Amino acid sequence: MPASIPRLDLKSQSISKEQKEKLRQLFPEVFTEDTIDFEKLRLTLGADAETVKERFGLTWSGKAECFRIIQEPSIGTLKPAKGESVDWDTTENLFIEGDNLETLKLLQKSYYGKVKMIYIDPPYNTGNEFIYPDKFSETLDTYLSYSGQVDAEGKKFSTNTETSGRYHSNWLDMMYPRLFLARNLLRDDGVIFISIDDHEVHNLREIMNEIFGEENFVATIAWQKKYAPSSDDQGIANMHEYILVFSKSQEFQRGFLPRTETQLNRYTNLDKDPRGDWASDNYLSNKSKAERPTLYYPILHPKTGKEVWPPEHAVWRYSRTNHEVMVKENRLYWGPNFDYERPRLKRFKSELKSGIVPSTWWPHTEAGHNDEAKKHLAELMGAQSTFSNPKPIRLIKRLLQIGTPDDSSIVLDFFGGSCTIAHAVLELNKEDGNDRRFIMIQLPELIDEGSLAREAGYKNIADLGKERIRRAIKKISEEQKESAKQKKLAEVPEIPADLGFRSFRLAPSNFKVWNGQVPADGKVEKQLEDFIENLHNHSTDEEILYELLLKSGFALTIPVTEKKIAGKKVYSIDSDALLICLEHNLTKDLIVKMAEIKPARAICLDAGFKGNDQLRTNALEIMKSHGVTDFRTV
Ligand SMILES: C[S@@+](CC[C@H](N)C(=O)[O-])C[C@H]1O[C@@H](n2cnc3c(N)ncnc32)[C@H](O)[C@@H]1O
Repeated sequence: MPASIPRLDLKSQSISKEQKEKLRQLFPEVFTEDTIDFEKLRLTLGADAETVKERFGLTWSGKAECFRIIQEPSIGTLKPAKGESVDWDTTENLFIEGDNLETLKLLQKSYYGKVKMIYIDPPYNTGNEFIYPDKFSETLDTYLSYSGQVDAEGKKFSTNTETSGRYHSNWLDMMYPRLFLARNLLRDDGVIFISIDDHEVHNLREIMNEIFGEENFVATIAWQKKYAPSSDDQGIANMHEYILVFSKSQEFQRGFLPRTETQLNRYTNLDKDPRGDWASDNYLSNKSKAERPTLYYPILHPKTGKEVWPPEHAVWRYSRTNHEVMVKENRLYWGPNFDYERPRLKRFKSELKSGIVPSTWWPHTEAGHNDEAKKHLAELMGAQSTFSNPKPIRLIKRLLQIGTPDDSSIVLDFFGGSCTIAHAVLELNKEDGNDRRFIMIQLPELIDEGSLAREAGYKNIADLGKERIRRAIKKISEEQKESAKQKKLAEVPEIPADLGFRSFRLAPSNFKVWNGQVPADGKVEKQLEDFIENLHNHSTDEEILYELLLKSGFALTIPVTEKKIAGKKVYSIDSDALLICLEHNLTKDLIVKMAEIKPARAICLDAGFKGNDQLRTNALEIMKSHGVTDFRTV
């Protein structure tokens, strides 16, 4: 009997399968077929295997549920929203409207290990925000009713108040699965930055230690978010918040921060050195004579010819031989009239390689403050108070400089809000010529009726975020055109930067998913029949196409070309690596011609073979005979 065509798995990546695979690679001996022999694993680990019940770590009621939620695959999809996108055909930036848990699950296949930097600014659990409630096996349903895709109008969840009794647990329940799934998306040299304040910083640190590993903790940055305390502050005025930094592994290498204008202004050329501007630096080290006896030696003063010694508590910075080189190369500065007691070292601007090593203290003068962020957003959006807590662009640019110093990186923010990071990516690319791409995820959280933002026409925060990106794109393109004009160029040079984005929306799958439940009327045959005709009849080809791309592990921004093969429409992805045909009434001619192109993979609709069992039987063989081993139906 000929083999039947395998079905494409429409569920998101199975997390438990993937974890098991990692374990199998390390300990193949503990596997018997597909099950893990825990006793053997304990023996393999020997003395390191812990058997006691009490152990160190954060636990809360509901933690076990987090693992069930992580493992439950998503049966949703991301539907393209071309109309609200900019430069759909060429852009590689993404905006996804939806709950981030479901979306992170859907992105696992396509973006596993691809993201260089994640920044998130989640709800801080102040008691004033709602904390998204995930329900095991109903996470998509929760979202659909929340976003008004099931009920007529979207609904608002109540806020998580301290009186709820599960104040911290609710927040941890929400954060744990999202951070777990987000980690999978990071490259091995990737990094995550998380904004947080005193409400949850201690709990966040604990779960990050658990998910990312304590050894991958990089720093806790203290950012001065205000320039002055409020006069009505009760107690001790809070002026700062934190940014927790964890790397995916030890492969992460932080970038440098650029020197500020003030720092660069320190470089001058007091002695008209032909090598250009320089700034003077200390010629003494921070070591004592006892610690570095060889660095304690006399040098000659060029004016007096007398011996000059370093202090015993701070010897010279360089060895005797290196000092001779410095003298020969005229790198010592003895003051305008050679009247300094000891020399200083000339550091030339032209020789500056890297920027500044970032520290954990970020004053508002360097990283911006809350008021500046609000003002900046209001100016761009043409309305006051559109969003209550955006982050300043200056702050986010610094994070990008540390997290994405190399050429092209994907940056993800799954609590997008007003999309400051997308804006910062576009601006910084323009400034430093790098090629970062963003992925933003944001819930369509309703904006309060009667608020200024609502009056300005924004119904929910996702709409606001998208509009901000569109306005930022417009502003940057206009600035580029203007600067080209000022340079008196005859024509505006081609803009290489990616100034666009593709917009998608979280939605239920285009395919009816067999849920195994017996219908109330007991007519299982009818349900099976429905499943064979498994497409929702309102789905468009484009919606189905992007679901198949996502579930086959392709990036949502991959270029797709449409071809006519044997009179039927076929989508070619990644130069024929994947061919997708969504036509009904498939023909032998089409199957043969698709096979002759020799794609690595091919997908057709199962319904396309309806009434043609002969072709269904032969199609797999035709594909195989041309070396197409991955042929599936949906
Ligand atoms: C503090 S704001 C982020 C602000 C952002 N950094 C900015 O500069 O505009 C957090 C955002 O996360 C969103 N959010 C909360 N739960 C979410 C979820 N489950 N999925 C997606 N977004 C969510 C909220 O709607 C809110 O807009």
